Amino acid sequence: MEENKVTIKVNDNGSLRVTGQVELVDAEGNPFEHKESFSLCRCGASGNKPFCDGTHKSINFVSAPRAKKD
Ligand code: FES
Repeated sequence: MEENKVTIKVNDNGSLRVTGQVELVDAEGNPFEHKESFSLCRCGASGNKPFCDGTHKSINFVSAPRAKKD
């Protein structure tokens, strides 16, 4: 794996876990403060968008996509 490669993991029934050197900006280009690894809301119910706050568990969000294998 490349040292500076960004990885986004689609967690089953939950968030998008982002790891690596990446800048997260709003629609106006202003940066959000975040750590090197952070989770983005995928369910739409977070009270702290764009970040995941764990609400996906209480709404029983269900989504577990898998990438196609070669
Ligand atoms: S994915 Fe966690 S609150 Fe939406």
